[in-house]
Amino acid sequence: MLSMHAVTAGYGGTTVLREVDLTVGEGEVVALLGPNGAGKTTLLRTAAGLLRPRAGRVEFAGRDLTGRPAQSFARAGLCLLPEGRGIFPSLTVRENLMVQARGGRLDAAIETAHELFPVLTARLPQTAGSLSGGEQQMLALLRAYLTEPSAVLVDEASLGLAPIVVDTIYAALGQLARRGVSLVVVEQYAQRALALADRVYVLSQGRVVHAGRADEVSADEIYRGYLGLPS
Ligand SMILES: Nc1ncnc2c1ncn2[C@@H]1O[C@H](COP(=O)(O)OP(=O)(O)OP(=O)(O)O)[C@@H](O)[C@H]1O
Ligand SMILES: [Mg+2]
Repeated sequence: MLSMHAVTAGYGGTTVLREVDLTVGEGEVVALLGPNGAGKTTLLRTAAGLLRPRAGRVEFAGRDLTGRPAQSFARAGLCLLPEGRGIFPSLTVRENLMVQARGGRLDAAIETAHELFPVLTARLPQTAGSLSGGEQQMLALLRAYLTEPSAVLVDEASLGLAPIVVDTIYAALGQLARRGVSLVVVEQYAQRALALADRVYVLSQGRVVHAGRADEVSADEIYRGYLGLPS
C-alpha cells in the first residue's frame, strides 16, 4: 500500500531522515513512535509528497511516486492529517465541511459529522478557530472520512487533549481501520497508539531503531529499551 525504501530527507543542508525503510499494508495500522525531533512529522510529510526525498523511493498504491507533488499522492488516495489539525480556522465548521465534502455533498458531510461527532452539529455556524482543541481535532478527522482515502497519516491527533477526548478520537481512528483504511499513527505517548496498531516503528534521530509487531512490545520497553528515556 505505502512503502518507503532507504529514504533520506531533510531541510536545506540538514539531514533529518536517514535511510528509512517503512511499509504499511492494506488495512494495516502502523504506530510511529519517537521523541521530539526524531523526524516523525518529517517522515509523514515525505510519505505524503510534501517533502521530496533526497534519496530513496516512496511508493503508494502500487506506483512509484517519488518526487511527485502532494496532489499526486492525494489523488491516489492518501490523506495527511497534519500536526496542528489542518483545518481552516477562520471558516465556519459548515464551510470547513463544505471544503472537505466529496462532490460538494454538504448534506451527506453534515450527516457523517453528526453520526461520528454529535457535538459538532451544534457548532456548524461557529468558526473552526473558536472550537475547543478536541472539537478541532474531530473536525480535522472528518476529512479522513469525507474524502474516502485508502490511507490516512495522522500526526499527533491527541496532542493537548483531555483523556476522554482522546478516547473519542481513537475510537474514530479504530472505526476507520475497521473500514479497511490503512493508518499511520504518530504519537509521542506510546500506549494508545500501540493498542490500536498492528505494527510499530520507533524512530530516533531520523533512523528506524525498532520495527515489529505492536503486541510484542510494551510502551515501557520502547521508552527504556529503544529510546533510553525514563519511563
Ligand atoms: N521546516 C524545517 N526546516 C528546518 N528544519 C526542520 C524543519 N522542520 C523540522 N525541522 C527539523 O527536523 C528535525 C525533525 O523534526 P520533526 O518535526 O520531523 O520531528 P518530530 O519527530 O515530528 O518531533 P515532535 O515530536 O516534536 O513533533 C528537528 O530537528 C527539526 O528542528
Ligand atoms: Mg512532529
